Amino acid sequence: EKIVLAYSGGLDTSVILAWLKETYDAEIIAFTADIGQKEELDGLEEKAIQTGASKVYIDDLREEFARDFIFPMFQSGALYEGQYLLGTSIARPLIAKRMVEIARAEGATAIAHGATGKGNDQVRFELNAAALAPEIKCIAPWRLDEFREQFPGRAEMIAYAEKHGIPVTASAAKPYSTDRNLLHISFESGMLEDPWFDASAESNEDMYVLSVSPERAPDEPEYIEMEFEQGNCVAINGKAMGPLEVMETLNELGGKHGIGRIDMVENRFVGMKSRGVYETPGGTILFVAHRKMESLTMDREVMSLRDSLISRYSGLVYNGFWFAPERLALQALIAESQKNVTGTVRMKLYKGNVISAGIKSPVSLYNPDIATMEADPTQAYNQNDATGFINLNALRLRVQAGVEQSKHNN
Ligand code: ARG
Ligand code: SIN
Repeated sequence: EKIVLAYSGGLDTSVILAWLKETYDAEIIAFTADIGQKEELDGLEEKAIQTGASKVYIDDLREEFARDFIFPMFQSGALYEGQYLLGTSIARPLIAKRMVEIARAEGATAIAHGATGKGNDQVRFELNAAALAPEIKCIAPWRLDEFREQFPGRAEMIAYAEKHGIPVTASAAKPYSTDRNLLHISFESGMLEDPWFDASAESNEDMYVLSVSPERAPDEPEYIEMEFEQGNCVAINGKAMGPLEVMETLNELGGKHGIGRIDMVENRFVGMKSRGVYETPGGTILFVAHRKMESLTMDREVMSLRDSLISRYSGLVYNGFWFAPERLALQALIAESQKNVTGTVRMKLYKGNVISAGIKSPVSLYNPDIATMEADPTQAYNQNDATGFINLNALRLRVQAGVEQSKHNN
């Protein structure tokens, strides 16, 4: 038997690797998606082999992640519960997709992951895998009684690792859990479980990875220009770039200026509330700039319709329904809505803020001749028409108000 394990090299997935091999007497194929987590990848292949993997895949999926996952999601304006840019959520379907591809190529019957039984990630891995490969089983050791009994705490895991010759790294000592990729890094648990704990305090600066605090950001603002084509950023400061380079460039800029830190309590799909801190420097700039581009180029009713779907779409991404038919249907509508989201946005980055500093577009719908307070040379708008427009819109309000008045009078 063969099992493909989503492997990070951390303590949990290392122990899981050895445990699966022992418990199922199976060949374990370790898979790590390079989705921009950077230094976490160093020495991973040797470590997986040493831990007992029969084969290791470390696949560079960064370009695909940016192009086919991050960019389409940003076209939608997705924002979960008004704050979270979905950095972890959007990576899971890509990992699941590649895992089932490897499972099929290797003739494996199951995939396994180290997500806990209390979180969102288990749901995302397994729903996305089900949508792509219904025949493949999922093994989630954290949901198995015998696994939890064997490993009630970190101490037992460290002891098991030492017994199996698994190197335990310093990151196992961090008092919180992190998840990093091209779009963000997340921090959860440990001292963050107290929502009154001030994660923005200077004394907590060591936790952050992708950005400086607004207080430590440069005193000089920095201007950038972003070019959009059909809702996608295609150039920064005049340099044409693919989606991966766009994300890397914006992360650099945003991180330098203290942009994109979010601290929130969110609702997990499994029913509990959870506190998370996120750094999404590039994503925050992209989010703001994209909305500015839409403000100039998008039809009012198209925008209203698309906006009405943002919370639905965000919920689908958050809850693990990326490959579900309703997300694909929504995506088709979003793609249509982006056809004219083309032009240039100028932004000023300054101490945690993304400040609008100009927009232009060859397909702008904004017409100063129509909007002007001065005499309108186009004659497209006749102010007298507004009288009837207001009268008809007021009709039902007048009828309603009349009914309310007669209730009081009787
Ligand atoms: N709460 C965020 C989400 O559900 C981040 C999850 C982080 N995952 C992790 N394995 N550390 O998308
Ligand atoms: C986990 O529980 O494995 C991480 C957090 C989450 O998935 O929500």
